[in-house]
Amino acid sequence: MDATLPLRDAISPAEASPASARLGEALSVAGIVHAYSGAPAVDDVSFDVPAGGVAAILGPSGCGKSTMLRIISGLVTPTAGVVRLGARDVTRMPARERRVGMVFQNYALFPHMTVRENVGYGLSGLKGAEKRAEVDKLLALVRLEKFADRLPRQMSGGQQQRVAVARALAPRPTLLLLDEPFAALDRALRADMQFEFLRLQRELGITTILVTHDQEEAQAVADRLIVMNAGKVEQAGSPSELYDRPRTLFVNTFVGQASVIKASVAAESETASTLRLSTGDEIHLPRRSGFMRGTNVVIAVRPEHVVLHEKPAPGAIPARRMMAVPQGPLRLHDLLLADGTPLKAAERRAPGASDAPPGGTVHVTFELDHCRLYPSS
Ligand SMILES: Nc1ncnc2c1ncn2[C@@H]1O[C@H](COP(=O)(O)OP(=O)(O)OP(=O)(O)O)[C@@H](O)[C@H]1O
Ligand SMILES: [Mg+2]
Repeated sequence: MDATLPLRDAISPAEASPASARLGEALSVAGIVHAYSGAPAVDDVSFDVPAGGVAAILGPSGCGKSTMLRIISGLVTPTAGVVRLGARDVTRMPARERRVGMVFQNYALFPHMTVRENVGYGLSGLKGAEKRAEVDKLLALVRLEKFADRLPRQMSGGQQQRVAVARALAPRPTLLLLDEPFAALDRALRADMQFEFLRLQRELGITTILVTHDQEEAQAVADRLIVMNAGKVEQAGSPSELYDRPRTLFVNTFVGQASVIKASVAAESETASTLRLSTGDEIHLPRRSGFMRGTNVVIAVRPEHVVLHEKPAPGAIPARRMMAVPQGPLRLHDLLLADGTPLKAAERRAPGASDAPPGGTVHVTFELDHCRLYPSS
């Protein structure tokens, strides 16, 4: 539905560095379990990120995202499971030996140190002119050359975030972890920072994992999404795989929007099925539902797969118009079905079309190929 080009595709491969200059190593986590006290915060989590890739861990508050980053960085040792970086098993390796850089949600800059001192902090092996030159290089990379002598509190949120990135990059990590790095920034600044960050990531080829609970951000930045829920991975894959083929209702509604309609399977054959909606209306699918007759299910349908008709049409269901708001080239409708089930519909705006007022009845059909069925919980 979103017509904007994902950021990751807006930066040409020509801007990326030659493979020889790339720092990134592949990451693999397998069977990770961790409980702080009592119930596990993460429970049997496995995923891979290829060398030089950008993955986003996505999920609601408390699902275990930050815990996974702490385990990968070495700040927390898991109860079970293995963390591998390239060929190394780093599960029990101290954090400082892993070559993993971390940018914390609040940036965690040292407030009494200048930008130069913050960035140089992780360069303990270098002294004098050599250290100075290295810090200058990092500051140029994040475009903060002119800010070297400032204190963090004398800078904007976006600038502080770039200092935190430069500081994490200083020890030349093979893996960079960012915990909600853009959360504190306003929308315009966030978009700028996402772009800058991707430029940098492409330039250095550092394998990167970013935590966010903003699915738009995840889709814009990452080439791989890892959706977590209640300590487990619900699904991992490319953004389009998760959007087009979500395996669970949770993923269907968390990555992109979807309305959920309760239904039961009224008829089922090899080639067709009939669903009775909670409104009493029936819809006919030209395929088997995969459920036995009588099973309670839910139908998830994305706004762009709801078709609006001004007049009654064959198979169409009446709905009440509650609100319609223009959104770029689309108009988003909030509808209510007869039994009060909310339904969102997105309609392409015809040039010069007037916005229909709320109230009144409209008739909806669904693009049946795109209606997804899940067992009712
Ligand atoms: N130091 C800790 N001691 C005890 N429990 C903790 C600790 N840190 C996190 N938890 C619990 O572990 C679970 C996962 O927390 P975590 O911080 O990984 O979530 P999150 O996905 O990062 O959430 P958010 O989006 O809010 O940052 C939560 O239930 C949390 O309360
Ligand atoms: Mg967190």
